Amino acid sequence: MAATIGKLDSANLNGGQKLAVKYFITAMVLFGAQVLFGLISGLQYLKPDLFYEVLDFNVNRMVHINAMIVWLLYGFLGSVYWILEDEAQHEVVGLKLGNLIFWVLTAAVAVVVLVFLFVQVGPGKESSIWLINEGREYIEAPRWADIGIVVSVLTFFYNVAATFSKGRYTGIGGVLLLDLLALFGIYLAGMFYTTNISIDQYWWWWVIHLWVEATWEVMVACTMAYALMKVLGVRRKIVEIWLYIEVALMFGSGILGIGHHYFWIGTPEYWFTIGGFFSALEPIPLVAMVVHAIFDAGANKIKNSNHPTMAWLIAHAFGNFFGAGVWGFMHTLPQINLYTHGTQWSASHGHFAFFGAYATINIAYFYIAMQQWRGKVWMAGDQIGNGWKWKWSIGLLNLGMVGMVMAMLVSGYVQSQIERAIEGSTWAGYFAAQAHPWFVQGMWWREIFGVMFAVGFVLLVWDLMTVGKHETRSMVEAKSAE
Ligand code: HEM
Ligand code: HEM
Ligand SMILES: [Fe+2]
Repeated sequence: MAATIGKLDSANLNGGQKLAVKYFITAMVLFGAQVLFGLISGLQYLKPDLFYEVLDFNVNRMVHINAMIVWLLYGFLGSVYWILEDEAQHEVVGLKLGNLIFWVLTAAVAVVVLVFLFVQVGPGKESSIWLINEGREYIEAPRWADIGIVVSVLTFFYNVAATFSKGRYTGIGGVLLLDLLALFGIYLAGMFYTTNISIDQYWWWWVIHLWVEATWEVMVACTMAYALMKVLGVRRKIVEIWLYIEVALMFGSGILGIGHHYFWIGTPEYWFTIGGFFSALEPIPLVAMVVHAIFDAGANKIKNSNHPTMAWLIAHAFGNFFGAGVWGFMHTLPQINLYTHGTQWSASHGHFAFFGAYATINIAYFYIAMQQWRGKVWMAGDQIGNGWKWKWSIGLLNLGMVGMVMAMLVSGYVQSQIERAIEGSTWAGYFAAQAHPWFVQGMWWREIFGVMFAVGFVLLVWDLMTVGKHETRSMVEAKSAE
């Protein structure tokens, strides 16, 4: 294994990790696409005739958020392959199949993106659902791709389950496996076809809400637990006990918390009470996660072997708490949601939560991967160039995101006040709010901070490609007691 320090060498990676870096690289490409299409969509808010009938807003927005879902999922798949052999103490079972599926899935994603970009205008027919667009926000991919996705994830599940079964089961492994089953199982709810829009929305939220507020949270709790052991050397006993507590709280509040999406779509009234109550509890596990991260960092006197990773893990703990917990809580009670529903409040929270909870931890894993790929290179303090690239990029990305989030919140306030409170949700009120100078200014600031975010992204790519390149020191490994 001893290769030249600082040189990219696939001999430094185990089988699962070689596959993981393929997922990570594709994830970064899609992240880039997300940023690009976000900037174009944001510009169209300011200049509505920009690219009209060439690259319409609905298409750009769709590519923006689908690229996000796919790159985050690629990051998760990669992270699981990353930890699999080490955690199970066994090489990945069915790795060849896993590799094949990577290429099949990636080709399918490329075709779907091309169809999104070039084939979205025309009559909607039964066949459109199969070939062009399924019409459900975030998971618009046509039915053929859905089936491909299900096959891919079943293969993935087989890889993970078989590896743990042949190797050893750990607490992390067990939770992960059950979570994957739930995560992929509920994807099926998004393929259910009905002409009744209330029923359609009812099931669609099973995918969207139960993903991000239940199964994805548990997924990152698992990868966070592993990362804390590797980077800080926290004891397995401690991270696993936290993991069980967090998972119980997460599922306990998140599953019925789905009711906060059932206020206005034609579902029975009891959802007001159930949704309001359980979703209000959702921030509790997120607080536990922050406490957990800080506690571990403190107990180890922040002696960590990978500074960029640790910084992104801390960003994850806080981003999850503020973006999902606080920003979600702000509009989760029906009395408030009546005014904020579907305004830029939602977009403000959506950006903060997806970035804060999920983009962050994926980036943390990208840094873990680069460190190993370059031969367990030194990535603690005192890096060459004082680590300016990763520090500036984490700064610009987070500041850019928080700036966008605040800008959207201002616009959202204007909408709630004018469109809802004053004008009583009329069509005229909708336009009055959108024309209000404060709304428009918010949209400008969103774009300006978006550019800042994009600069941070470019720096991130540059840093990931070069970090540790000229380094000669090797990493001092944090040893985690079992
Ligand atoms: C990481 C976890 C989370 C993510 C990624 C996330 C993301 C999102 C997104 C993207 C939307 C907009 C959906 C749409 O297009 O209509 C949304 C809506 C919403 N979220 Fe979250 N969320 C998270 C956690 C939470 C939590 C913990 C709460 C409550 C405490 C919450 C409360 C809400 C509410 C009430 C809405 C509906 C907004 C509306 O009525 O327009 N979210 N969330
Ligand atoms: C360059 C930075 C970005 C810009 C300019 C941007 C812009 C936009 C715009 C204009 C929309 C459509 C909003 C609407 O329909 O009213 C949107 C939606 C969305 N974006 Fe971004 N975005 C950026 C980065 C990101 C990032 C990094 C994430 C998450 C990791 C993200 C997540 C989302 C989500 C979840 C939605 C749907 C929100 C909802 O339906 O409520 N965006 N973005
Ligand atoms: Fe939700």
